[in-house]
Amino acid sequence: MSELEGKRVFVTGSGAGIGKAIAALFTERGARVVISDVNTLAAKQTADEIGAAGVANCDVTDETQVQSAIQQAVDLLGGLDVLVNNAGIEVSSPLLQQPTDSFDKIFAVNVRGTFVTMKAAIPHLVESRGNIVNIASIAGIGGSPLLGSYCATKAAVIQLTRVAAVEMRPAGVRINAVCPGFADTAMVERLVPDFEAATQVPFGDLVAAKQGRLGTPQDIAEVTAFLASDRASWVTGSHYVLDGGLTASLV
Ligand SMILES: NC(=O)c1ccc[n+]([C@@H]2O[C@H](COP(=O)([O-])OP(=O)(O)OC[C@H]3O[C@@H](n4cnc5c(N)ncnc54)[C@H](O)[C@@H]3O)[C@@H](O)[C@H]2O)c1
Repeated sequence: MSELEGKRVFVTGSGAGIGKAIAALFTERGARVVISDVNTLAAKQTADEIGAAGVANCDVTDETQVQSAIQQAVDLLGGLDVLVNNAGIEVSSPLLQQPTDSFDKIFAVNVRGTFVTMKAAIPHLVESRGNIVNIASIAGIGGSPLLGSYCATKAAVIQLTRVAAVEMRPAGVRINAVCPGFADTAMVERLVPDFEAATQVPFGDLVAAKQGRLGTPQDIAEVTAFLASDRASWVTGSHYVLDGGLTASLV
């Protein structure tokens, strides 16, 4: 039997990119996945394409929408075993030139969104002794020019993961994070021109030198699937780095 057979799963931001790959792999491995995205058209297309169990959309910055989407998923699936907090945005800007409303916005999506979605899902996960995987980033571990506020949000996601994991251990709920390096999605495509302008190095060369190759959304989905499965039953409060060795090297 597949490791995710029958698992009832809710993935935020799963209309595209890494979230879509996670939803597709989980479905392929027997999970029943509810797709959720602020982009309702992308959510529907993804659900149709991968044969998901359903769609329950929300903007993760809106707590009422999040609570309602989680409830819809629970009603549809008959409970919840796994929450994947994947929805996230990037901002490319020198930190101290970033407008404050843009700083607030990225914290609202990446940090507040993770917080309110965990809160809404937790009663259902306590019931199922389920687990949460938060998609953080290597930007939460090291700094990067142009990604100051993004780095701060992802460090916050790692810390939320740690504390929530320790607090929820007695209830049997595991909570982990995944920290990918650069992966092949629209988010990275949007960042390339600014990175090339700042470094004067072709992005492909930078990636080859630092992480061997660009990650794929499937690379991230594989580790997320492991963490969400019962094979990871003793893993909680951790953050798994997937970056082709980027953070392992000082030069
Ligand atoms: N691509 C990378 O290299 C990379 C590396 C490390 C971490 N990450 C993280 O992985 C996650 C997914 O990134 P991606 O590269 O697939 O991005 P993406 O921009 O390709 O896709 C993000 C998805 O999230 C949705 N979304 C955005 N704001 C939302 C909101 N407020 N509420 C609900 N959904 C929302 C978008 O509509 C989109 O479908 C993000 O948390 C990102 O920070 C990405």
